[in-house]
Amino acid sequence: MPGPGTLANLIEFFWRDGFSRIHEIQMKHSKMYGKIFKSHFGPQLVVSVADRDLVADVLRAEGVAPQRANMESWKEYRDMRARSTGLISAEGEDWLRMRSVLRQLIMRPCDVAVFSDDVNKVVDDLIERIGVLRAQDPDGTTVFNVNDLFFKYAMEGIAALLYECRLGCLKNEIPQDTQDYISALHLMFSSFKTTMYAGAIPKWLRPVIPKPWEEFCHSWDGLFKFSCIHVDNRLKEIKSQLERGEKVQGGLLTHMLTAKEMSIEDIYANVTEMLLAGVDTTSFTLSWACYLLARHPHIQEQIFTEVTRTLGPGTVASADDVYQLPHIRGLVKETLRLFPVLPGNGRITQDDLVLGGYLIPKGTQLALCHYSTSLDEENFPDALGFQPDRWIRKHSTDRVDNFGSIPFGYGIRSCIGRRIAELEMHLALTRIIQRFHICVSPLTADVKSKTHGLLCPASQIHLQFIDREN
Ligand code: HEM
Repeated sequence: MPGPGTLANLIEFFWRDGFSRIHEIQMKHSKMYGKIFKSHFGPQLVVSVADRDLVADVLRAEGVAPQRANMESWKEYRDMRARSTGLISAEGEDWLRMRSVLRQLIMRPCDVAVFSDDVNKVVDDLIERIGVLRAQDPDGTTVFNVNDLFFKYAMEGIAALLYECRLGCLKNEIPQDTQDYISALHLMFSSFKTTMYAGAIPKWLRPVIPKPWEEFCHSWDGLFKFSCIHVDNRLKEIKSQLERGEKVQGGLLTHMLTAKEMSIEDIYANVTEMLLAGVDTTSFTLSWACYLLARHPHIQEQIFTEVTRTLGPGTVASADDVYQLPHIRGLVKETLRLFPVLPGNGRITQDDLVLGGYLIPKGTQLALCHYSTSLDEENFPDALGFQPDRWIRKHSTDRVDNFGSIPFGYGIRSCIGRRIAELEMHLALTRIIQRFHICVSPLTADVKSKTHGLLCPASQIHLQFIDREN
């Protein structure tokens, strides 16, 4: 099998800062070596798959408990602190057990539709916040660095569902404990490279190079601490409701705490990992979506027309309305095709597998190159063009699904938060489009993407939000 050698990879990643260009390297290597190629990272062999049909073959051949990647450093932290693994870090029986509980709660659109009102309250705050932020600008229209705004929206939204409480992220004064948590999250991502090394650096080298491991543990400590406080608060409330003989009602967390299908440590770990997975993913996608709308005013108008025609002026959309808004759904799909937050994903083969004519032995690390397949002309004509309507069925027999773009993964180990993320994004974008013309600020240049763990904007996006006349 062709592919770059160890030295070429070392130069590309360590010398030329390849970690922030993983998506570009994926494209470059698939052009150079073909749609299946191997790479060596020291002793680690990785087989990259950049072909839509081969990706489909891998995911369709999965067993009952697929493994994404080696999660040794995550497990080591959890063992050290006597913590459980959550869905992201668990494997085998443990993963299967927790996944089957959570799957029943949040995997289908109808499961999360009940959260519409909670999410809409957070959208109310988002719209108000846009008003506050643009009023701080001399021209009264610009919101600087929209990702900061969407980060807070995503965090407030996911916490409203996971903790069943409001954190105040969209307020002028953010409470100190929330601020500490935001810092822990930022540390987790800003120290992405060091945390990669935390896993890669052999344990015996830690006394010599202690920082990566220390930062890794420090950010996890912060994330767990925050989740434990909120889970414990809800548990206390439930206990006192029961003592008063009241009926206990609530959402996801209440269900987890009362159904007793998972231990309290499992709940801490899952809530922590879901919060980690659910903030930057959603906020980057919202930032890109608004940026793309601003860059394509005619598409923005097309979507606005659909929204007003379907909902009538000023109506607040619910999850059920989103079925009638194919352009809103197409907008999110097309944004994630152009900017898949996870530009690549992993699988460790659990059996020998024949792929593209090669025998891949059991235990091999595969890299599924979603960025390359998303931008492949063979899969998507005019692949660099922004066309949300490519996802809209013109006839009932049209097949618009495409393995070339599976931003939430596919199959039994796919994203468990997909329906929550979609609800948050659909409701926020619908309301923003109803209320504002979005325009690019003259201060925003052409924004490129970079990999920083996730695929994110390489520079800040500043946008103008101009009131529509309703
Ligand atoms: C735009 C938003 C999001 C995108 C694009 C996204 C994408 C992904 C992808 C690609 C995976 C790996 C799937 C696989 O290996 O096949 C994943 C896993 C996961 N995501 Fe998301 N995600 C998003 C939002 C969320 C949210 C809001 C949550 C929390 C509610 C969440 C929780 C998780 C968890 C827990 C896993 C691990 C699932 C498992 O291993 O069983 N994600 N996500």
